[in-house]
Amino acid sequence: MKVANRLRGLQQSALGAMTVRCQELGALNLAQGLSLVPPPASLLAEGARDFKDIGHSYSQPEGLAVFREAVSDKVNRRTGLGIDPATQVLATVGATGALMATLTALLNAGDGVILFEPFFSYYLSSLKMLNLSPEPVRLVGPDFAITEESLRAAVTGRTRAMIICSPNNPSGHRLTAAELEIVSAVADEHDLLVITDEVYEEIYFGPAPHLAAATVGTLKERTVTLGSLGKSFSIPGWRLGYAHGPEPLIRSIRIAADALVVCAPAPLQELGARALSLGEDYYRDLRAMYDRKRRTLAEGFAAAGLSPNEPEGSYYLFVDCSPMGVTTGVEAAEILLENSLVGTVPGEVFYVAAPDRPYVRACFSLPDEVIAEAVSRLVKGV
Ligand SMILES: Cc1ncc(COP(=O)(O)O)c(C=O)c1O
Repeated sequence: MKVANRLRGLQQSALGAMTVRCQELGALNLAQGLSLVPPPASLLAEGARDFKDIGHSYSQPEGLAVFREAVSDKVNRRTGLGIDPATQVLATVGATGALMATLTALLNAGDGVILFEPFFSYYLSSLKMLNLSPEPVRLVGPDFAITEESLRAAVTGRTRAMIICSPNNPSGHRLTAAELEIVSAVADEHDLLVITDEVYEEIYFGPAPHLAAATVGTLKERTVTLGSLGKSFSIPGWRLGYAHGPEPLIRSIRIAADALVVCAPAPLQELGARALSLGEDYYRDLRAMYDRKRRTLAEGFAAAGLSPNEPEGSYYLFVDCSPMGVTTGVEAAEILLENSLVGTVPGEVFYVAAPDRPYVRACFSLPDEVIAEAVSRLVKGV
């Protein structure tokens, strides 16, 4: 049997493949963003206590009201956007499900979608699955900021949308108000849909709170925001995310999400709603924990003679491995794996064409003892 054309050039995610290699070699897996830190204790205790008593059937395609209300309460508290849980939110199978439903609902095969390199690799596979055309815009390190010239130069006659991500995976960059103003102006000029992936909204370093794209310029009118409980509550395996945005767009996305997967896991929506109502202390502790982990791991890479970035958010280091004398991230990741038994992701995974430097991405959403062991292996191995 032949496979469909849309799968041409697609393989199992390179992130998952590195996890398998790490298992084979007994290497530490800093590759995939597995979020191996404990979920909130209260969430697990209440879940274990109440699981048998909550609904185990489907929810409505848009999700349980209790979940949508918890999402909108949090979004409105944080952003002042005033979204309506009845019409402007849906529960999804992770942010990945939210992205797929959004692309399916709002774009046609052949439409161009601007991606800012480096980008989260699932964007590209999602576009390929739907025969959408990636239009990459190369951002330059170490800050990886969006510039007006590069964005304007990327828009073509078939561009219909762009995907932005802040805090960014893999670069750790947080989009500034000035960058978002550029996005807003160009999107207005060309009537583009903006999809903003803000799954790391709670994981940032420094005093400035998360800046939601939909609050800047006129983006509110044309932006679908993707969120995930996986990152904020360390429960990626629950596959629980959401999308919110203007009512007409969400109405269509709900139809696509229904056709794709019926609904997000309903019992977990019920528990997820409780997680979303955790207080600010929880998030403060989460950020402090990740700040500590990022510093420790960055010191390890620096002690090994490499050049880690200083991420402003998310839970990854994007490490320039030029000092190893290599020219590609693929070579660098292989050397780190073989010599140090530390698994990372080659930077190439986050680009359409070759990156300008040999980057690897290393995840620090791991227990302290794993990070300490990684540091010790890096220092000895490279
Ligand atoms: C930027 C970004 N968006 C989306 C996702 C996927 O989120 P979910 O697990 O909720 O599908 C990830 C997971 O690593 C991510 O890093």
